[in-house]
Amino acid sequence: MTSQGSRQVKELAGTVALVTGGAVRVGRAIALGLARQGADVAIGYHRSVAAARATVAELRALGVRAAALRADIARPAEARRLVTDAARQLGRLDLLVNNAAVFVRTPFAETTPAQWERLVGVNLRGAFFCSQAAARAMGRRGGRIVNIADVGAARAWPAYIPYGVSKAGLLMLTKGLAAALAPRIQVNAVGPGVVLLPEGFPAAPRERLTARIPMGRRGHPDDVAAAVCFFATCPDYITGQILFVDGGATAI
Ligand SMILES: NC(=O)c1ccc[n+]([C@@H]2O[C@H](COP(=O)([O-])OP(=O)(O)OC[C@H]3O[C@@H](n4cnc5c(N)ncnc54)[C@H](OP(=O)(O)O)[C@@H]3O)[C@@H](O)[C@H]2O)c1
Repeated sequence: MTSQGSRQVKELAGTVALVTGGAVRVGRAIALGLARQGADVAIGYHRSVAAARATVAELRALGVRAAALRADIARPAEARRLVTDAARQLGRLDLLVNNAAVFVRTPFAETTPAQWERLVGVNLRGAFFCSQAAARAMGRRGGRIVNIADVGAARAWPAYIPYGVSKAGLLMLTKGLAAALAPRIQVNAVGPGVVLLPEGFPAAPRERLTARIPMGRRGHPDDVAAAVCFFATCPDYITGQILFVDGGATAI
C-alpha cells in the first residue's frame, strides 16, 4: 500500500477477490491483506464453517463487502461453482487466489491411492478448475490469478512426496496458465517457506526446520499476504513468475 500525505491509497478498491481456503491461517491473512487494500473478498471454505463466519465479520469490519462460500474443490463441479457463485454474489471477479490445500505426511511405503487422490485432487486439480472458471468469470476485462505453492515444490521431502508433487505441478500450472491466458490474465505463484506448522507438529523437527532458515526464524502469514498483494497490484508485464517467501531457504 502506498501513502499520499496522511491518506492511504487503497490500490484494490473496487476490485473483487476470491481466496480459496480463506477462512483460516494463511488464507485468512491473505483475505485480510487484500481487504486492507480495499478489495471486496469472497472466501471459500470446506469444513471451517464457524471460522469462515468469523473471517467474513473481520473482513466487513475493514469496510469491504465479503462473502463465504462452501465447496469441496477436489470436485471439479464444486470448484467451478465456488468461483461462479463468488463472482455472482460480489458482482465481478478480478483476482483468484488458489490457496486451499491439504498437507499430509505420506511416508513412501505407506502412501495410499486415496492420499494421492486427495493431495493432488485438492492442491492441483482444484486449482486448475477454479482457474478455468475464473478465466471465464473475469471476462474480457481480465484479471489475475495467484497460486500458493510451497518451497516443497523445489526441495524434495521424502515423507511428503505427493504433496511436493502437487505443489511442483502448481508451479507448472502457473506457467501454463500464464501462457494460455496472456494478455488478459496474469498468473503468478507465491512459494511460502515455513510459516504456520500444522497443530501438534513435534517440537524437535520444528526447531530443526527453523534452524535451517537463513533468516533464522519462521515466516509470518502476513509475509505471504504481502507477496499476494504485490502480484495483485504489480505491472501486468509480470506473469508466469514464482516468488519464494521463505527467509532464504531456497537460496541455499
Ligand atoms: N502453513 C505454512 O507454513 C505453509 C508453508 C508453505 C506453503 N503453504 C501453503 O499455503 C497455503 C495455506 O496454508 P495453511 O497452512 O494455512 O493451510 P491449512 O491450514 O491446511 O488450510 C488449508 C485450507 O484449505 C482448505 N481446504 C482443504 N481441503 C479443501 C477442499 N477439499 N475444498 C476446499 N477447501 C479445502 C481448508 O478449508 P477448511 O478449513 O474450511 O476445511 C483450509 O482453509 C496452502 O496452499 C499451503 O500448502 C503453507
